[in-house]
Amino acid sequence: MPSSNPQPVAAPLTRAAMFLVVTVNDGAAHEETVKGLAADLSGLLRSVGFRDSDSRLSCVMGFGSDAWDRLFGAPRPKELHPFREIQGQHHAPATPGDLFFHIRAQRMDMCFELATQIMGRLGDTVVTADEVHGFKYFDDRDLLGFVDGTENPVDQDAIDATVIGDEDPAFAGGSYVIVQKYLHDLKAWNAVPVEQQEGFVGRTKLSDIELDDATKPSFAHNALTVIEENGQELKIVRANMPFGEVGKGEYGTYFCGYTSSPRKVELMLENMFVGKPPGNYDRLLDFSRPVTGTLFFVPSATFLDEVAAAPAAAAAAAAAESAAEPAEPAMTDGSLGIGSLKKEASKE
Ligand code: HEM
Repeated sequence: MPSSNPQPVAAPLTRAAMFLVVTVNDGAAHEETVKGLAADLSGLLRSVGFRDSDSRLSCVMGFGSDAWDRLFGAPRPKELHPFREIQGQHHAPATPGDLFFHIRAQRMDMCFELATQIMGRLGDTVVTADEVHGFKYFDDRDLLGFVDGTENPVDQDAIDATVIGDEDPAFAGGSYVIVQKYLHDLKAWNAVPVEQQEGFVGRTKLSDIELDDATKPSFAHNALTVIEENGQELKIVRANMPFGEVGKGEYGTYFCGYTSSPRKVELMLENMFVGKPPGNYDRLLDFSRPVTGTLFFVPSATFLDEVAAAPAAAAAAAAAESAAEPAEPAMTDGSLGIGSLKKEASKE
């Protein structure tokens, strides 16, 4: 078990969710604002969440690769890097994002209030790159009409699939998340006979039963995203939500995949976009186009709570900024002095 408490990455699906991706403006003052919010996030969550505890309000905060370097420097999570775009049969673009907020609740007003408080705190420190309000669509269906989330691991399996353990001890309790905003061509999709759609997904549409191996095409979505290595299935937890704006004809799925290693999601994306073997790609992509793609590290909740306990780091960052020199890791022992990171840097 990780010694640090994870953020609620493996929380079950809710009726409502907001996905906020923002970039952080340059300057030490802005970086301090972000750190202040990170440290206060659990308090904000308690304040808003307690107003209706039945609504299961939760928030996950993630940091992009560049933002991590600017805010925390070394040590850095082993597998943190910018999202890698894929140019295969279809294109998966990489788009900017320094911070990610994934806010979930049974009621959209609870999500909206927390998002308002967060953005109020961040003020002119950030620019919003993308904001999506997702909703539960009937029995957890996507807007293509299929139930989405059935094969997600739950309970301990969900923790095992998403939370970093001994493979990166300095960041145990952390996680990674890859997000992509997909837009669907529903007119084209709805013109496809249901039986063919079922082949694309690999499950029946109404009853959500997996097709048997004899019936399932090799390019089915669940054939390409189920990957085994050394007899073990690579599991992730998907918190996808439908969203849309009917007036604009915009219908989409916000893909949000939590994982203990980004490599698992990257292999799935490779199979989907390039194909396995190459050319045998995911036909869902003929109807669904990603317009964003960003990778974030999700530190443990313990890490976030203790960000403010590093005044030396803040002072050093501000001093480095005013001297117009690149910021150095602040603690003399080379660590951040935060939670499980104390003195970890010296091991590297
Ligand atoms: C337009 C975007 C997407 C849609 C509409 C979509 C929809 C679905 C649906 C309907 C299922 C079957 C039910 C279930 O087990 O949840 C499914 C399964 C799955 N999807 Fe997606 N998906 C999308 C993108 C992705 C992406 C980008 C990935 C990973 C990179 C992914 C990974 C998976 C995995 C791992 C499963 C479970 C397969 C299994 O264990 O049977 N999906 N998805």
